[in-house]
Amino acid sequence: MTIRAVVKGVGHYLPDRVVPNSEFEAIVDTSDEWIRARSGIERRHFAAEGQNTSDLATRAAQAALADAGLVADDIDAIILATSTPDLTFPAAATMVQAALGMTRGFAYDVQAVCAGFVFALSNANALIVSGQAQRVLVIGAETFSRLMNWKDRSTCVLFGDGAGALVLEAATSAGTSADRGILSTDLNSDGRYRDLLYVNGGVSTGSTGYLVMEGKEVFRHAIEKLAETAHRALDKAGLTPDQVDWIVPHQANIRIIEGTAKRMQVPMDRVVVTVQDHGNTSAASIPLALSVGRDRGQIKPGDLLVTEAIGGGLAWGSVVLRW
Ligand code: UT7
Repeated sequence: MTIRAVVKGVGHYLPDRVVPNSEFEAIVDTSDEWIRARSGIERRHFAAEGQNTSDLATRAAQAALADAGLVADDIDAIILATSTPDLTFPAAATMVQAALGMTRGFAYDVQAVCAGFVFALSNANALIVSGQAQRVLVIGAETFSRLMNWKDRSTCVLFGDGAGALVLEAATSAGTSADRGILSTDLNSDGRYRDLLYVNGGVSTGSTGYLVMEGKEVFRHAIEKLAETAHRALDKAGLTPDQVDWIVPHQANIRIIEGTAKRMQVPMDRVVVTVQDHGNTSAASIPLALSVGRDRGQIKPGDLLVTEAIGGGLAWGSVVLRW
């Protein structure tokens, strides 16, 4: 008898404002054609003034709770993956807890930048299999538009805002790879690569700062490390790439998504792609893709999914789960 963390509900929220590539042509020396060709992005959503990460996260959480048929006080823990919390502290997760009207349990943030949701899922899984929680709300939410240097064309065209959430619940299972729920996780980081992708502000500087990225280098690491971590997670679960129904990757760049799928020998018709509509929403990208993929009718109960992500740190990892 094995305890598994099984998906009970999923939901997402995107801010109303849709920003097409053409809007950037007036700000920096770029073109819709370049952005589409080099990244696959066509549009992204930006949060309204005064709308913060915890607001987006709360909307996604409400959608996931409704999908699960649960209310906030049915939840034992909230884990929010974000690198753009409303304030330095308290954790944005506690703001979500209050906004949901949840009067019990505990809530905290996880910060692993674009890999944040994979780290948060792994963390939630550990809480559930160790018996510390029965139901965990795992959210990825970001307002990366607030970290953009609007004079840097190599970064400002790539990112967007949004949120996605899953409700995970403990379920007694057979302990085989046919079980529903999280089957394996693989987490990695290497702090020697700090300078490839970082924000040049924080408590040490007294200002929020801007995102700085060596795009080409991050790209090179991504292609190599994402397929590697996905293979490792599948190995741990005793599964192989040909058994995968859907890769649900971090949505940073269509060329990275295609390169990783190719290395895994999984055809693109088994990859959930949302990068054209959302841009790179960092820790929100995987739960957004899970929710949109489910709504599109792509992801169905019993499907075998692999999620994989890489971002600042560098930090990267993957989770294998059966929907
Ligand atoms: O989610 C966290 C992880 N982040 C990522 O995964 C992002 C990884 N990196 C990437 O997605 C890609 O490297 C980028 C989309 C950022 C860039 O694509 P690239 O094919 O690596 O382009 P590049 O950086 O080699 O730049 C090619 C050219 C350069 O001009 P020169 O030096 O060849 O004259 C850039 O200055 O494109 C230029 N360029 C632009 N041109 C028009 C850079 N940004 C732009 C732009 N519009 N927005």
